[in-house]
Amino acid sequence: MKTANQEIKPITTKINANGNIEVGGCDLIELANTYGTPLYVYDEATIRSITQSYKDAFKDYPKINMMFAAKAFMTKAICKIMSEEGFGLDLCSGGEIYTAKTAGFDMSKTLFNGNNKSFDELNYAIECGIKTISVDNFFELALLNDVAKSNNKKVRILLRITPGIECHTHEYIQTGHLDSKFGFDLTQIDEAVELIKEEYTNLELVGLHAHIGSQIFEKQVYYDEIGVLFKEIKRIKDKYSINLTELNLGGGLGIKYTQHDKPISVYDLAKTMTESIEYHSKEYGMEMPEIFIEPGRSIVGTAGITLYTAGSSKQVPKGRKYQAVDGGMSDNARPSLYQAQYTVEVANNPNGKSDEKVTIAGRHCESGDILAKDIMLPEIEEGDTICFYTTGAYGYSMSSNYNRVLKSAAVLVNNGKSDIIINRQTYEQLCESDVIPDRFK
Ligand code: LLP
Repeated sequence: MKTANQEIKPITTKINANGNIEVGGCDLIELANTYGTPLYVYDEATIRSITQSYKDAFKDYPKINMMFAAKAFMTKAICKIMSEEGFGLDLCSGGEIYTAKTAGFDMSKTLFNGNNKSFDELNYAIECGIKTISVDNFFELALLNDVAKSNNKKVRILLRITPGIECHTHEYIQTGHLDSKFGFDLTQIDEAVELIKEEYTNLELVGLHAHIGSQIFEKQVYYDEIGVLFKEIKRIKDKYSINLTELNLGGGLGIKYTQHDKPISVYDLAKTMTESIEYHSKEYGMEMPEIFIEPGRSIVGTAGITLYTAGSSKQVPKGRKYQAVDGGMSDNARPSLYQAQYTVEVANNPNGKSDEKVTIAGRHCESGDILAKDIMLPEIEEGDTICFYTTGAYGYSMSSNYNRVLKSAAVLVNNGKSDIIINRQTYEQLCESDVIPDRFK
């Protein structure tokens, strides 16, 4: 069965009677007029469709816990949706913990991970009642033990390991290969276990964690990852008589940005994982562990689109045609950072003939601020609403104020209604942290 991560557009996308694109029952031109552009638009039905697919696909595996990797798109409204869907949260900074906590999220369904958590963040995580902390390295083991001791607590931990699995994704978003900044190398696990057993008595080791990368299209890497984790659990059991009962398999499922992308479905992912767990449990004579997965991109990526307004254009004599829009690398860093490609349409002219080759340029003072290079679109006129699909993950969450451009607003659409979930930043907010030292006054 096909799942929403295999679609380019939100599942409610249509062309309406006005001849405009509509998502979640809302006309995109009306949204652009009401809220201004650039505007992130999130389709609630698509988010809920994919979370339902995850639950359905894994329903035969009794011990599964889904956690949304908040780094893909973190706001308080998303915390509410994840809570309603029964998902936990995978959090990776004090700011994400604060957002979840102040949104009223049940902190007993959260995990804290990251390769350089600070003393203050670990302390705050414990104070907020985070359920588990995934420890990334030796430095953090010592630090966390101190923090736990000073709080008079025993903290449940996973060891994040680097399983040595290469997946074919962009180099910047591979994480499970051996030369990685994340996690314990397989050869360092024993030392970590011994330290926890003998010295770090405020830590309770409950399982292992791995995340092999992001925007993954292959099944085999997940099968293999589980094999590596089981082998380690078995080894730890035999050598130290420690029974690790929790396995966090990370996230990474890919989505379809353009027609060239062929991501597997959530059902394929679930089948592969379940088969590997069953096979390796039998092989090693172990009980099936409690499994955690933490998808980010596949939960919110397809649901989100970005609307821009077309502004100036430039035809280079005998060269490219550049069409500038009112956003760019500050609201979507992915094209300039990873050469990411997107599917683009003109929201007020979706049926127009795509017979012009154009490069969509951002508005920032940088030549590399190109959102889409050499794509075919109908001829664009100033004021047209340009729609970029699949910007829901790592768009807003990696946005910046480069050139002091304000951060964009986000709306959630559903059944013809739109609700603001992130207000557009104001000039006052932009400058609210600026301080002029007294001597300049
Ligand atoms: N778990 C861990 C430990 C992670 O580091 C990540 C993503 C995830 C889960 C979620 O992975 P996902 O399901 O979203 O693939 N900014 C990049 C992606 C960086 C991913 C970082 N870690 C991009 O825009 O492509």
